[in-house]
Amino acid sequence: MRKLRYKPNKKFLFISASLIIIYVILQLTGPEVINKPHEGEINVPSNVSAILRKSCYDCHSNQSDPTWYDKMMPASYLVSHDITEARSRFNLSEWSKIPSGQQQVLLWEMVNAVEQKKMPLSRYLAVHPNAAISPSELAILKDYVNTLPGRSKVDTAKITRSPYVSDGKTLISTGTPVSITGIAYSDSYKSWTVLSVTDKFDGGSMRIVYGNEIMIKAIKNNQIPFPDGAQMVKVVWGKQREDAEGNVLPGNFQNVQFMVKDSKKYKSTEGWGFAKFDGPDLKPFGKTVAFATTCINCHKLLVAENDFVFNIPTK
Ligand code: HEC
Ligand code: HEC
Repeated sequence: MRKLRYKPNKKFLFISASLIIIYVILQLTGPEVINKPHEGEINVPSNVSAILRKSCYDCHSNQSDPTWYDKMMPASYLVSHDITEARSRFNLSEWSKIPSGQQQVLLWEMVNAVEQKKMPLSRYLAVHPNAAISPSELAILKDYVNTLPGRSKVDTAKITRSPYVSDGKTLISTGTPVSITGIAYSDSYKSWTVLSVTDKFDGGSMRIVYGNEIMIKAIKNNQIPFPDGAQMVKVVWGKQREDAEGNVLPGNFQNVQFMVKDSKKYKSTEGWGFAKFDGPDLKPFGKTVAFATTCINCHKLLVAENDFVFNIPTK
């Protein structure tokens, strides 16, 4: 323990002093956000452009407003990181460099990002409340995206509600598929309440979860365990695609999954009956009823406290 007799060591002092100086310099300068002129700025109707300028340009364009950047000096590293990252995803100042089919995918993703309150980033909104997008502004963005040339041929509202669309063709299933657990496929969920939608930004898979009236009422009344007759359906699509004309299509329909509450009939699986129908011909999944055990086991593991249901919106 020789070090106990502490003698200032020149080398040590020099290193500490240097570190302090470097630290101070870093604080003073911060990272630089370099603004450049627009080179092929996005060309959209003025009401749409006004919204993008107000809410997205600070990060997704070459023209970040330095005032907000200055204000956030202590967080400037994070801010400059956000801007670099955002510009790399898409840059509204250099929009014309993006192929037109991809522009449409992006516009659609932008609307989704706003609708799901993922954008503008909440940490940015905290200091820029004016950048928040109101419901009427969101409606303007949606209307615009729906009038794009490729979109008129693809009614997304229909697509996201129909499991039959695959490769742009409407597939009609013959007969009614029935799962080995006794649950028959039915289209009626399409008129149920949507509990949750995910459309991954990276163009990954997409899914929609629906609940029937009994389920929705029970959720509202916080009636857990859920009553018999409660049902949920989850529809899953694969990666988004683009057809030859640049239309954005959700990926191929993959499967539709059912959960039906019947505490007596499905006692062995905690009162929930499970069914899964695969592919456009809705082939019932599972050779024996035992498949339902794997379903409930995972739901049990993750959400036992909510009667094994994941998508309960927070009230
Ligand atoms: C404070 C900076 C900031 C603002 C403002 C902002 N974004 Fe972003 N955005 C980001 C960052 C960072 C990413 C990449 C990381 C991520 O996805 O969270 C991103 C990613 C995205 C993506 C995903 C793109 C992809 O290819 O993965 C979309 C879509 C998007 N933003 C839309 C918008 C829209 C629309 C607005 C305006 C309403 C907006 N953003 C405003 C920072 C911002
Ligand atoms: C590996 C774990 C796992 C297995 C196995 C599993 N699920 Fe799920 N399930 C989830 C997760 C996580 C969610 C919520 C996230 C989502 O909606 O994608 C979910 C959600 C659901 C939903 C929507 C209702 C809810 O709880 O939010 C249904 C319906 C569903 N699953 C049916 C099934 C069926 C039918 C099977 C068996 C064929 C099955 N699940 C097997 C993890 C699993």
